[in-house]
Amino acid sequence: MDEADMLSSALLEALPYINYFAGKTLVIKVGGSTLGSGDTTLQDIVWLKSLGIEPVIVHGGGADINLWLKRLGVESRFIQGLRVTDEPTMEVVRMVLVGKVNTELISAINALGGRALGISGLDGGLIQAEIEDPQLGLVGRITAINLELLNTIVGAGYIVVIAPIGTGPAGQPLNLNADTVAGEIARTLRAEKLIVLSDVAGILDSNGQLLSHISAAQAQELIQSQAVSGGMIPKVRACLQALEGVKRTHIIDGRVPHALIRELFTDRGVGTMITQVVPNGLAPSKNIEYLLDSMKNKRGGAK
Ligand code: ARG
Repeated sequence: MDEADMLSSALLEALPYINYFAGKTLVIKVGGSTLGSGDTTLQDIVWLKSLGIEPVIVHGGGADINLWLKRLGVESRFIQGLRVTDEPTMEVVRMVLVGKVNTELISAINALGGRALGISGLDGGLIQAEIEDPQLGLVGRITAINLELLNTIVGAGYIVVIAPIGTGPAGQPLNLNADTVAGEIARTLRAEKLIVLSDVAGILDSNGQLLSHISAAQAQELIQSQAVSGGMIPKVRACLQALEGVKRTHIIDGRVPHALIRELFTDRGVGTMITQVVPNGLAPSKNIEYLLDSMKNKRGGAK
């Protein structure tokens, strides 16, 4: 194949996906300020939006929070390795996530020509939560998402960027896990996809080989057998939770340049896709159902 052939086959692979995803909502979980200067994620997000795709962003910020707790000399207590979020800690969590990380993302997206709107789970009671375990302090478990508010701001044409803080029963801010927030938002929105960016290749098998496409049941087994551990657990759980309302969920390698574009617009992607079932006999690289679906819709046929 010469270069022109390669380029046209890449385009032919991408076009049906572009066609199909237009008008659909994708929930994308990104890290915090760890998105370094050379990171292409925000550029990709602005591209998606310009193609008529609706990206809804949820960001983390654990590393920034740890840094600022240290800088400000706020000492935390730990119970079995888990940080207790007391009042002073929660104050820093709020300052860092809403004051720093969220606004940094907004200004970076705006600088790239996007129109971004930052919001935390406190605004308009976007994310309702209750205290998960009193021992851990102000850590929340999500009880409800204000879908009407979310649909309004997405419908107004903004790239919505959500800081993972919940509204507690008495209106107090609660600390939430960002992967969990992304999973719950994707499920409630019945988004087309949940895409979680990570800093590893994806989910690996016991030989360290990338698993490109697995079923929800396989993902459960991997957690049970401890093949999936540490920071990957909340990501896989978020995917499993989202699968109640979402067709395809993805944990992708955010270190790869333009990981989002590659995952979305190629057959093979750059990470692990988790779906309810893995269709039997259908090579995962051939996403025939998309092509059929998208042709059906464009002909104005039944949805
Ligand atoms: N681009 C297709 C999609 O977004 C396929 C992605 C496949 N990814 C994978 N990790 N196996 O659905």
